Amino acid sequence: MNYQQELAASKDDPEGFWRKKSEALEWFKKPEKILTQDKDGIHHWFADGEMNTAYMALDYHVENGRADQAALIYDSPVTNTKKTYTYRELRDEVALIAGMLADLGVEKGDRVIVYMPMIPQAAMAMLACARIGAIHSVVFGGFAAPELALRIDDAKPKVILSASCGIEIKRVIEYKPLIDNAIEIAEHTPKNVVVFQRPEATAELSRDGDLDWLETVSKAQPAECTPVKGSDLLYILYTSGTTGKPKGVVRENGGHAVAMKYSMSAIYDMKPGEVFWSASDVGWVVGHSYIVYAPLLQGCTTIFFEGKPIMTPDAGAFWRVISEHKVKALFTAPTAFRAIKKEDPNGDFIKKYDLSSFETLFAAGERLDPPTYEWLNEQFKLPIIDNWWQTETGWPISSNMRGIEKMPIKPGSSTVPVPGYDIHILDDNGQEVVANKQGNIAIKLPLPPSCLTTIWGDINRFKSSYLETFPGYYTSGDGGYIDEDGYLFVMGRTDDVINVSGHRLSTGEMEEIIATHPAVAECAVIGRSDELKGQMPLGFAILKSGVDTDHLDIKKALVQLMREKIGAVACYKDTVIVERLPKTRSGKILRKTLRQLVDGEDYVIPSTIDDPTILDEIQQELK
Ligand code: COA
Ligand code: AMP
Repeated sequence: MNYQQELAASKDDPEGFWRKKSEALEWFKKPEKILTQDKDGIHHWFADGEMNTAYMALDYHVENGRADQAALIYDSPVTNTKKTYTYRELRDEVALIAGMLADLGVEKGDRVIVYMPMIPQAAMAMLACARIGAIHSVVFGGFAAPELALRIDDAKPKVILSASCGIEIKRVIEYKPLIDNAIEIAEHTPKNVVVFQRPEATAELSRDGDLDWLETVSKAQPAECTPVKGSDLLYILYTSGTTGKPKGVVRENGGHAVAMKYSMSAIYDMKPGEVFWSASDVGWVVGHSYIVYAPLLQGCTTIFFEGKPIMTPDAGAFWRVISEHKVKALFTAPTAFRAIKKEDPNGDFIKKYDLSSFETLFAAGERLDPPTYEWLNEQFKLPIIDNWWQTETGWPISSNMRGIEKMPIKPGSSTVPVPGYDIHILDDNGQEVVANKQGNIAIKLPLPPSCLTTIWGDINRFKSSYLETFPGYYTSGDGGYIDEDGYLFVMGRTDDVINVSGHRLSTGEMEEIIATHPAVAECAVIGRSDELKGQMPLGFAILKSGVDTDHLDIKKALVQLMREKIGAVACYKDTVIVERLPKTRSGKILRKTLRQLVDGEDYVIPSTIDDPTILDEIQQELK
């Protein structure tokens, strides 16, 4: 089948199409109802099937000839460690951790927060939850205590699984004090915090319910896989919305497993036994889908890399890993390549390694800008594949379908809709626009398997955020256009979400934090273009009258505040102190105009602007 035939099959008979795809997995009881709708009108895939994601990802392979194949290779330049786990070893470790969770009283449907660095125990923790039908919620290690507290209060976990520290390029980050602080801030208190001690910084386990990971696991018996329904939740993953409260995106077991498995062959062209490397972090959706679940469901070997593209120890880190572990496909965010390009513009490190196993390079998480694409293309002469998706979907919405048909690449485009997604470009009134005209990227309902079915505990927010803007469609929050050949070009967010180093952050949340500073009367945060990180936040603040504190001190305090409240990962570095902010006559801050002004783009002065002279004032301040 070529791409057009596959797309047509997915549109003509979606249920038949996805039933067939579901047959690639080993269910305990095959689903009979492929697509159903609940009382809220929300679609669910494979709701009545019985299964277990950890069984499909581990036990199935152990029982079917892959027991001694490498399942996960941990490569950690920051600790000088390399360790391979076969499918059998990984299954056995996961079963014991699952047993430990069961001993701690974790049952099917209970939530477990995983706040861990990139060590294999993080993947084991996720799979152990899946094994007993518990719902994991991984929190990125770079988030500060208040962010963790928000997630604790929303997910109400019975247990937190963690490690004593994470290792960044310049420092060791102790996790336990952050967790203790988060529990103090939060209203909900988890029963236990289980800590995997690392030698780089051991944690003091002094709170009630604190447990040492190895000691507790050593007392556990392996747990069997608990059967769950296709529509039971596998995980909650929080992502930034437009306000300070993150959205708990939920993922159902059945649709997720089917989409993961399908994508590994249809998009990433990976066969069982081959080595796949997603250089991301388990704290992000890319890590959930393409470090942990999809490669294992497909019977591949996944690389678990604890390092950075540069400085661990140099800009050749990625090429060393590819050559050493015979990686077929690498998947990461364009920022990583921009960082490498900056350090090694002529690709000298690339030439040092045998990259004969390397066939395809995938990029996602932010727009693959044409200059980065061109540089990669020059260095590798390999297909460089952009794919566009979001935490909400859990897998690509548009991509070059490498395992179905290797389509021509257009720089700046994430190619075509993935079968299952019916993509439309709509104007603000919900009318379809013509080819090459920019608009809102919307997906006609029903969404395919794996996409979110609600926001944890808040169906109304799910509906208002995604389903109400254009009835009958899911609103992606991204803008872009489709060209005359049906290629999609994603141009950026249409809301207050920004993308810094491929990390999704909310400017709305940053504004809420700046507004808590006693000297600040009003503020706005925008995402300005950044050559390395794609975007960087920039704050604008109007001070309260009578404030005579040195502006530099206020700016420093705001940077510190952002690090304490969100984390260093927010990359908040600068604030412009202004007298006034550009607003519409109804008082809405013109953030888009501010961003255009900062980026030096041509802009049309909005007709709704209250006082255009403010723009000149700001221009002066920026100088
Ligand atoms: N735990 C604690 N802190 C973390 C962290 C983590 N897991 N990840 C990042 N941080 C900290 C960094 O140490 C840095 O702190 P600093 O301001 O004190 O120096 C800050 O957050 C900003 O991090 P980052 O934006 O990653 O910048 P960097 O300069 O450390 O690294 C790159 C730049 C390009 C090397 C890095 O961003 C990178 O590897 N990007 C790849 C993108 C990626 O994997 N995205 C995932 C989505 S697909
Ligand atoms: P996240 O939910 O963290 O994966 O972030 C999703 C957002 O990142 C999307 O809504 C886009 O704004 C952006 N994004 C991800 N992949 C791409 C891509 N290939 N091209 C353009 N933007 C992307």
